[in-house]
Parts: sequence; structure tokens; C-alpha cells
Amino acid sequence: MSNKIFVDACFGKETPYTPVWMMRQAGRYLPEYMKVRAEAGNFLNLCHDPKKAAEVTLQPLDIVGVDAAILFSDILVIPDEMGMDLEFIKGEGPKFNDPITCEADIDRLIGGDEAASKLTYVFDTIKLLRTQLDERGDNKALIGFTGAPWTLATYMIEGQGTKTYNICKKMMYSNPKLLHKILAKVTEVVKLYMEKQIESGIDVVQIFDSWAAAIEPSKYDEFSWKYMVEISDYLKSKYPHIPIIMFPKGIPAFLDKVYGNFDVFGVDWSTPIALAKEKLGDKYVLQGNMEPTRLYSQEMTTEAVQDIQDVMGTSRHIFNLGHGILPDVPVANAIHFVKECQRVSKK
Ligand code: CP3
Repeated sequence: MSNKIFVDACFGKETPYTPVWMMRQAGRYLPEYMKVRAEAGNFLNLCHDPKKAAEVTLQPLDIVGVDAAILFSDILVIPDEMGMDLEFIKGEGPKFNDPITCEADIDRLIGGDEAASKLTYVFDTIKLLRTQLDERGDNKALIGFTGAPWTLATYMIEGQGTKTYNICKKMMYSNPKLLHKILAKVTEVVKLYMEKQIESGIDVVQIFDSWAAAIEPSKYDEFSWKYMVEISDYLKSKYPHIPIIMFPKGIPAFLDKVYGNFDVFGVDWSTPIALAKEKLGDKYVLQGNMEPTRLYSQEMTTEAVQDIQDVMGTSRHIFNLGHGILPDVPVANAIHFVKECQRVSKK
């Protein structure tokens, strides 16, 4: 038994209640976050400042009462350190001004350990958090994370968020070799980056495939899942004691085909958790999956928490939202969600 109930729950061990956290829990719905971000000047400066990044990582533990902290950073720091030029434009989101269009663009990217080693500010943040969490003595876990190679590649190829994914899907169907070359190069960096996160002190890994649903089900393994599994196989062979959470968003049609050596399957809000339990519950612990906008209503939140609890019972489950919390959610409602999860599952 570890002394962290979140880690125990990831491995399917008995816990006094079902632990809970929220994707994007360190963020704009918290006035305390907005204050620190203003002091840092902008979002990227905040990611680059280990002291401030550690501070906002811990805020949801004290303010909202979640059972795990998630490292404050962003998935896009990886392509940034591979040599792409990341900007966050106010009101628009992330932007790369030099998207990947051809083989020469890929060859110019920094790869492997050279790129992973440049993310020192992330490792420094983790080391600081490890000390701070150990000093607190409340045994809350620290989650490290990465984007899945496919989700990272969508930004590297499109240059920004997209509704249609037409540029990367054109590449998928007209030049799949080029897309695989990008995915393989990103996968190598991610493996070493996550290894360094583990060595710096994280307790759990989550791999976010936020844009999984952009791929048709028959192609999902080829262009995304197999790379996520390559990362989890690599980490599991070296660090079997570190749980791995896979979060592919919006792929109910792929549930029958899910495979791999990992511990927790993150269920998004569009997938009925009963369906995920039927297909995957024996093999993996499940995480999720309240519709995040239910957080606008405490009544709707209470209802969903009870419904999820009725399906999942009190084992092999971690409470979470089915995707990230939105910036205009009242903090009191986030606190209500966390309390309800801990209350209904108490043994
Ligand atoms: O609390 C946490 O979950 C930890 C921090 C975290 C952030 N981004 C901070 C952030 C995590 C885990 C991420 C992951 C991330 N980043 C994903 C995957 C998770 C998901 O929600 O699907 C994706 C797709 C990104 C890329 C990204 N970063 C986008 C599209 C945006 C702009 C849209 C938005 O939400 O503002 C960001 C910016 C970002 N990342 C913010 C935060 C707190 C907002 C920046 C700010 O204005 O302060």
C-alpha cells in the first residue's frame, strides 16, 4: 500500500472513499490563479517560473479540496522546446507561426533527449512541488502529464486549434508516411520527457489525447493509440510503480479495441460510464466522467455524482469531470462537486 489514496485507487486497491480531481483544475475559474498569472505577466511566463507554477498547482488542493494536484504547465511546451515558436494569443489560444508542412520541417525539429532536456523549468517545478507536498504531509498525489503525439501533432501541423483538422487529415490520407514521421519524432521526445518528470518526483502520469475524436475509429490505433501505448510500455518497463492514466477524448467506437499496459482509462463526458465499465472495467480502473458544464448547477452536479456512483460503486473508480473545467464556473460549485464525490463514496 502506498500512503496516497489516489495512487492506491489507480492500482484498484481499496480506499476509504473514491478520490477526485478535475481536469484543468488549476486555472482561470480561480481568482487566486488570475492574481498569480497577472504577476507573471502572461501564461507562458507562468509555466517558465517554477515557484509560481508550483504555487498555482497547489491552489486547488487548498481551495477546492481535490485529492491530487496536477502539475501546472501545458502540453504545448513540448513542440515549443523542439524548436517551434509557441505564442499564446489573448482570446485566441495557442499559435505556432511555423507549422510543419514537409520532411525538411521535421528534420529541423530538435528531437530525443536534446529536446526533452530543455524542459528544465518543468522538472524544477516538479522538484519544488515534491518537497512542498512532502512537507504538507497530507499525502496528496502529484500528477504529471503530456499530450498524446496525435494531439500535439494537430497543433504542430495546423499551427493552432482547428474545428476541421483539414490540414492534418489531408496529410493523414495523402501522405501518411510524413504524419508517421512527425508522430514518431514526438513520441521519442515524450518518452524521455515523461521519464524525466518521473525522476523529478511525479506520482502518476496522464496522457491527454484531447483531439482523439478527430480520427475515424478504424484509423485511431494507427495514428494515435499505438503511439500512446508505446509511451506507456516504455514507462511501465522502467517504472511499474507509477500509474498511467490514458485519456482519449470522445472515442466510444474504439472501446472494444482498447489495449495496452496502463492502469486507468479516462472516460470523457460523451461516453456513458456504464458502457465503459462493461467494456473495460475488469481490465482498467475508470476515471470520470461528469459533463463539465453541469458545474453551473449544484443540483445537476449532485444528480450526476450520484448517477456515476450508482454505476461505479466504491471501487476501481476515480471521480473527475469528463473534460476540463470551464473558466466561468463558480468556485463554490467546484467545491460542491468535490465534496459530493467524497461524501457519496465514503465507506
Ligand atoms: O490544471 C491543469 O489541468 C494543469 C494545467 C494544464 C493546462 N493545460 C494549463 C492551461 C493542462 C493539463 C493543460 C493541458 C492542455 N493544454 C490540453 C489537454 C487537456 C484538455 O483540456 O484537453 C490542451 C489541448 C492544451 C492546449 C491549450 N492550452 C489550449 C487549447 C489553450 C487555450 C484554451 C484555453 O483553455 O485557454 C491553452 C492555454 C492554457 N493551458 C490555460 C491554462 C490554465 C489558459 C491560459 C490562461 O489564459 O491562463
